[in-house]
Amino acid sequence: MSHNIESTLIEERLFSPSDEFVKQARITPDKLQQLRAEADEDYTGFWANRANQEISWKTPFSDVLDESQAPHFRWFGDGELNISANCLDRHLETRGDKTAIIFEGEQGDTRHISYKVLHGEVCAMANALKSYGVRCGDRVVIYMPMTPEAVIAMQACARIGAIHSVVFGGFSAESLKDRIEDAGAKILITADGGHRGGKIVALKAAADAALKAGCPGIEKVIVLQRTQQPIEMQSGRDIWWHDAVANQAKTCEPEWVNSEHPLFLLYTSGSTGKPKGIQHASAGYLLGAITSCKWVFDLQEKDVFWCTADVGWITGHTYVAYGPLAVGGTIVIYEGAPTVPDSGRFWKLCQDHKVTIFYTAPTALRALMKLGDEIPNQYDLSSIRLLGTVGEPINPEAWMWYHTVIGKTRCPIVDTWWQTETGAHVIAPIPGATVTKPGSCTHALPGMDVDIVDEQGNSITAANQGGYLVIKKPWPAMLRNVWGDEQRYKETYWGMFDGKYYLAGDSARRDADGYFWIMGRIDDVLNVSGHRLGTMEIESALVANPLVAEAAVVGCPDEIKGEAVFAFVVLKDERPAGGVSDELTQQLRTWVGEQIGPIAKPDQMRFADNLPKTRSGKIMRRLLRTIAKGEEITQDTSTLENESILKQLQGIE
Ligand code: WTA
Repeated sequence: MSHNIESTLIEERLFSPSDEFVKQARITPDKLQQLRAEADEDYTGFWANRANQEISWKTPFSDVLDESQAPHFRWFGDGELNISANCLDRHLETRGDKTAIIFEGEQGDTRHISYKVLHGEVCAMANALKSYGVRCGDRVVIYMPMTPEAVIAMQACARIGAIHSVVFGGFSAESLKDRIEDAGAKILITADGGHRGGKIVALKAAADAALKAGCPGIEKVIVLQRTQQPIEMQSGRDIWWHDAVANQAKTCEPEWVNSEHPLFLLYTSGSTGKPKGIQHASAGYLLGAITSCKWVFDLQEKDVFWCTADVGWITGHTYVAYGPLAVGGTIVIYEGAPTVPDSGRFWKLCQDHKVTIFYTAPTALRALMKLGDEIPNQYDLSSIRLLGTVGEPINPEAWMWYHTVIGKTRCPIVDTWWQTETGAHVIAPIPGATVTKPGSCTHALPGMDVDIVDEQGNSITAANQGGYLVIKKPWPAMLRNVWGDEQRYKETYWGMFDGKYYLAGDSARRDADGYFWIMGRIDDVLNVSGHRLGTMEIESALVANPLVAEAAVVGCPDEIKGEAVFAFVVLKDERPAGGVSDELTQQLRTWVGEQIGPIAKPDQMRFADNLPKTRSGKIMRRLLRTIAKGEEITQDTSTLENESILKQLQGIE
């Protein structure tokens, strides 16, 4: 951004929580004020108090925040704990028989798992992992369908201090291989398949392909039997999950780890072709997960909390596998697609399992909204008391639909801004205290120092002036590193403001009332259906195809997905006179699906003899974005090597 952007979107509607909601809320307006005052007065003391209250420590900490190795900050650095013990063991006495997980498969099979049973299953898997030689600090890759076993696998790793890296089941064999290799994993946990969209996702076949192509470090593959479809099991390497745990004890002494011990890696897209392994620590991450579950989701003893995210994303880590369990909640896990057998599935699940807190992505809401109110209106949604969204800006229209049709105007909506890197919510309403505005994530949480600054790092105080979203003080749930690439960690997040502020990579503005409005990414990252995709990753995938000489990928607005992938491609061979065949287009889309995953397939492709470049050879992305949007070109194009390609890029010729 070379100059500040003035925003024209001004939303005036205000929504206050009902008296009824406020009466039963954990955080009332008074309480929120107290929390803010406490954090303002003594920032580290504030977090130390929370850490003492919310975490069960094996060894208490005395050092709250160590900044000596900045930007590698250490929180509660001399404390010891175990994350799985915090999520399970500490509930056994008081909530042992309480349901921890309500599971529903896409085909309608259901299971209720109590804290006691979950604890036993986690321990058995932890023992199995140990028997295969997994030690504290070893990496385990998890590539599973959305089943309770995915959470069990993550918790089992946490129990023995192994570092998990979950790879979303929608990623291809190629992506899986890259992540396994980058993490240096020695165990892979997968499944024979999962049910999704009425089909079976062939996870084991993809895992086999990944291991065939590389991953020499993998010693064992543990395979959950979920779909019963025939798969190949390589003797000596592959073990069925049920065999692995068959003779294992249902107790396992937790490995007590240092607060800063890495809990997990999660790969996410950035500005280069290579995804980065975001590395999180233990205690600080857990604290962020717990406090946000209590503050933002108001999660209480009787709640049934359903976060629809897959464990392959950060949302599925913090608000499925860890946060809600750490506070002793009941969660819903649903395996499949929202449209099976029809588009009422989400609402039917809410009705059948009496969901009280529902958390999903705007893209899902927009897709379901389009189908009309009759579908949700067929279900009893009266159990719901709080709604949430995450992953991308929610347009006011979808917000209002969520509020009226799903929440029946009763339920506050929490629009939560955060990132893989932040570990937990950063900017979000406190439902019993914050007056919300449709489309705004409102204010920073207590203990979070968030600001909007200009290129020099000066605070932008003028209303509705866009700038860089930054976090000015370290916070407990923050990332600690990029796995194996410290340089990238420093450059990406701390380079722009000389190590002083964390650069989120989003632009944002504050309105006259001080509400935050997220405007979009400032880097080459797209947000497609709430999922981060690097344009460079898709470009590298395209040029890896033998037919492709060059490619440039940009985002273009999409009513449902938020952003769609638009690829401009130059072929090695001459462009056919009658245009490129649909077959070839299809072939390239499939190729990208194989290289990265189906979510990365370009929605639109345009072929040209060249890409628009400046004299120095830089691709004029702004121009491509204009073309992708179908807008008139107002930029100066006189520096183009070959102006006639504009017509090709616009699809006119
Ligand atoms: C975007 C997902 C607007 C943002 C938790 C951020 C949002 C990126 C919101 C992180 C929101 C997330 N409003 N934009 N409430 N939440 N984003 O790492 O651009 O998958 O930088 O984490 O999603 O995506 P990630």
